[in-house]
Amino acid sequence: MNEYDSDHLARSLIINGYIPVDNPANADIILINTCAVRAKPEQKAASFLGRMIGIKKKKPHTILGVAGCMAQQEGIEFIKRFPQVDLVMGPREIDRFQDYLQRIQTDQEKVVATDLNFLPPKPIHCEGYFKGRVTGFVSIMEGCNNFCTYCIVPFVRGREISRSPDDIITEVKDLLADGIKEITLLGQNVISYNWQNQKFASLLHEISKIEGLMRLRFTTSHPKDLSDDIISCFKDINKLCQHLHLPFQAGSNNVLKRMKRSYTRESYLDIIAKLRETRQDIAITSDVMVGFPGESEDDFELTLDLIRQVQFDNLFSFKYSDRKGTLAFKMDDKIPEEVKSRRLKILQDLQKEITLHRNRELKGMQIEVLVEGLSKKGDQFSGRSGTNKIVNFTHNNCEVGDIVNVRITECFFNSLQA
Ligand code: 5AD
Ligand code: SF4
Repeated sequence: MNEYDSDHLARSLIINGYIPVDNPANADIILINTCAVRAKPEQKAASFLGRMIGIKKKKPHTILGVAGCMAQQEGIEFIKRFPQVDLVMGPREIDRFQDYLQRIQTDQEKVVATDLNFLPPKPIHCEGYFKGRVTGFVSIMEGCNNFCTYCIVPFVRGREISRSPDDIITEVKDLLADGIKEITLLGQNVISYNWQNQKFASLLHEISKIEGLMRLRFTTSHPKDLSDDIISCFKDINKLCQHLHLPFQAGSNNVLKRMKRSYTRESYLDIIAKLRETRQDIAITSDVMVGFPGESEDDFELTLDLIRQVQFDNLFSFKYSDRKGTLAFKMDDKIPEEVKSRRLKILQDLQKEITLHRNRELKGMQIEVLVEGLSKKGDQFSGRSGTNKIVNFTHNNCEVGDIVNVRITECFFNSLQA
């Protein structure tokens, strides 16, 4: 979502006459887009900001802005802490960026913009911006109403609001015109999409009919909203890739309840079974965290057990990070850092084995890959399978943007050779 917002802001600058530079030391405007979901990305943003302040001290006319969820969370405090910052702009404010810039430039003001009631951004037509890319994002909804007890997102991205199908389709067509072949629809919980009673499955069908679109994906989905008509899309819509990212967070019903996730391990496992019945080759990835307040060794074992049962293709795993303002922040029984680290290591070792095992099952198979460019070493092509695995391969007759058939010869943890 942040990458998408950053592209939106960059396009808004370009259509107003700005030119991207490679080195921030040469920039007239430096805008840092931030994430507040855990402490680590916040620390990274703060350290990057420190370096940019160094540049501004040498070149005082540089406009320095902080955007995104950290900006939303800290508001005016950001300017008190870092007086060199000219703009603090939350995620719901990005369509008003040009107005704020003008106020800073002409009136020499500092601007703090953290209203959460604005609508999602209108499409920006900036021809050629995505040239050279094969895959792109289109946001279909913003915000979240779920208030999982550990999560800062509802506080910094506001309530759920869907974009109109017209805006979404305009943006998809714009990306396709630049050469993009694969679109990922974005939102904190895309499957709760609702525009004047048009729901997510209907939107998926509509978008899949757009000419020139080769592949469609979406992320992220909340298990409580994954209805049968959405699951059916995996067999009914040809262009929809056979991959679903479905965060489970924890395997213990006790913990899930205190996280306020509104599903149980049993209902999660039922959904996985349904998905695999519908599309046998579907890849499933997920998010999970260890060390939620009060998580016992038994709770943690249940998380490991769920991972063993589901056999995820891959997992994003995190240590619980205390976020001020959330309900979990006020809970007792915080888990010590060393326990969280130990649990994370055990979990990640287990998932490594499973990912490798699942990748090895593909050996000898023929699969479709969308060619994205050259491999890291530069001696082969690289792309991704419908299941979202990186595939490096040799081919004597393909171009970037083609979908080609390749045969898997070797399987690693992070990629496949074909
Ligand atoms: N601590 C750790 N991980 C978190 N996530 C969200 N909030 C927190 C937190 N406070 C993780 C969840 C979510 C992913 C985007 O980040 O797993 O799915
Ligand atoms: Fe955060 Fe839960 Fe909303 Fe996801 S569904 S953004 S984890 S509050």
